[in-house]
Amino acid sequence: MNREKPIAKIREKMGLTQAELSQMIGVSENTIANWEKGSASKWIRHLSRLCKILNCSLEDLEPDKQLQERSRPDLTPNILDTVKSYCVALFKNDKKTVTKISSFATLHDNQLRYWLDQADQIIDQCQCDAKEQVDCEIVINTLILQNLSIQLNYVLPNQITLDKFCELLKTVTLSHDFLSKYIFFNDQHFSRKLILQTRYLSVYVIGWEPSHESWMHHHGNSLDAILVLEGEMTHWLLSPEECKSKNIPFEAYPSGQKFSGKAEKFTVGDWVFIDRHYAHQIANSSAKRLATLHVRFGAPPDDDKWETTEDQPVIIWHQMEQYQVILQNVNRV
Ligand SMILES: [Fe+2]
Repeated sequence: MNREKPIAKIREKMGLTQAELSQMIGVSENTIANWEKGSASKWIRHLSRLCKILNCSLEDLEPDKQLQERSRPDLTPNILDTVKSYCVALFKNDKKTVTKISSFATLHDNQLRYWLDQADQIIDQCQCDAKEQVDCEIVINTLILQNLSIQLNYVLPNQITLDKFCELLKTVTLSHDFLSKYIFFNDQHFSRKLILQTRYLSVYVIGWEPSHESWMHHHGNSLDAILVLEGEMTHWLLSPEECKSKNIPFEAYPSGQKFSGKAEKFTVGDWVFIDRHYAHQIANSSAKRLATLHVRFGAPPDDDKWETTEDQPVIIWHQMEQYQVILQNVNRV
């Protein structure tokens, strides 16, 4: 690891003091000292200002770090807890706590500042959209989904390993109250409801009445994860070799082919991960309803079978559009 202090070196070469540089950038002198020690993260807009003022490139400032790694927003458990406290205070109109958290973030924690700003934007958007009643639940769950999307947007779908995908998804702690808004059942066939979709990421809920089942199918080069939300899921999994030898079709070409071999049972809270080119089949063999959350990374599912109802929260869509704009700006620098 490079132990040099490039910011301090370039600043001194230009004859600037920490105080002068801090004034030029618009941050505290302490922040500059922490950047130079490498003990505080630098937000992207500060990095570009730093480059301009010090007349250098990003690589000169960060010789041992990937820029995207440093600037990638990450909703850590600590930040999430603080954002929750911020939202609770905001909805209670507890201005003192809101100001305290907000000021702390502005002065000391750029990551927290980013997520507080995102929370504010979600609330603003909900309030603009008279259809949507905003509460803490929707703000926090939207941020969790947004964070998943951000983390996955830094890799191409064919570059992430199943292990990394699993690790990431286990941090996605969406509340049941939030997800229950998407659980929907149809007497005739299983019912899919979309929560969010970006270019590669699709998150949706499927409701299965007793006896509903899918065909045996595979998702090609996409990764898939399933979380049981309600009931019991019966699941069959075939290796890529078996999938090939049995001529199992891609999901978009239902063959009517059903598998009756050895199945596994999964209950509430269980995750099932399906690696690339594996085939699988889901059934509700129980007497109760089954609801499953699906996270697909790769090609989106065939999307003409989504259930749509008026009560579906729409904020995710707005938020994702906003997020895409932010990401493009980050990549352009
Ligand atoms: Fe599937």
